[in-house]
Amino acid sequence: MTGGLDALAARRPEVELAPPIEALDLAGFAAHGFTSVPRITSDAELGWLGEVYDLLFRERIAAVPGGYFDLARPYESEGPDLLPQILMPEARVPALRETAFWRNTRALAARLLGAEPEALHGWAHMILKPAGVGAPLPWHQDEAYWDPRFDYVALGSWMPLDPATPESGCLRFIPGSQRGPVREHHHVGENPEVHALETRDVDAARAVEVPLAPGGASFHHCRTLHGSGPNRSARVRRAFAIEWQLAPVRRAAPEPRPWVDAGRRAWEARRPR
Ligand code: NI
Repeated sequence: MTGGLDALAARRPEVELAPPIEALDLAGFAAHGFTSVPRITSDAELGWLGEVYDLLFRERIAAVPGGYFDLARPYESEGPDLLPQILMPEARVPALRETAFWRNTRALAARLLGAEPEALHGWAHMILKPAGVGAPLPWHQDEAYWDPRFDYVALGSWMPLDPATPESGCLRFIPGSQRGPVREHHHVGENPEVHALETRDVDAARAVEVPLAPGGASFHHCRTLHGSGPNRSARVRRAFAIEWQLAPVRRAAPEPRPWVDAGRRAWEARRPR
């Protein structure tokens, strides 16, 4: 049914919508490591993005090799989806990069990082929390997933396609945590075949939840501690994230991140369906 996907991709609505620079809280981002804007794209584009999103998940399309898996259980294990993720959907649907969503998050990310938009590299992922069962995403820093031979200037942008509320599993952040180092992480269940990473000893009482309406967007520094709860609501919670970064710079000496090495070995041993 990928012909259906191509036909859908060709129906992308043209959306002229300036990035809401004036809504951006630069000081709040610098102080707390996260911020949000109420709206990043139009209803028409949101509708089209939702159709693309639903088709990709319905057909479990891996846009890059192995790029469809459940974050919350071992790769290729049997069972209903708890927290399915699609990596780099733009590799299969390049039109995603032509959207106001993509353009505007890049413009805001550049402003927050003090960079030129053209200097930022972006790659996306889609994370779906099924209604009623969607698994929690434990506390982590995004940089903990990355190659420790490099230094990063990076942030994540995150847009829900459904209401993101405390009940449906909106993101939550620990203010100021972006100033700390990359913490020690481990794979959920101490199993490197589970993609999701987790860090211990987080003071969850300090967490700030950031509810968003569909089409709103939050931005978090690559070291900001964040996670989300399960989806206890009666509807799916679809989210579309883009990671934005300048070209990584090689460090003089890599930090040890044994969980990255273990995760890479588990990934390379996969036999994706
Ligand atoms: Ni994250």
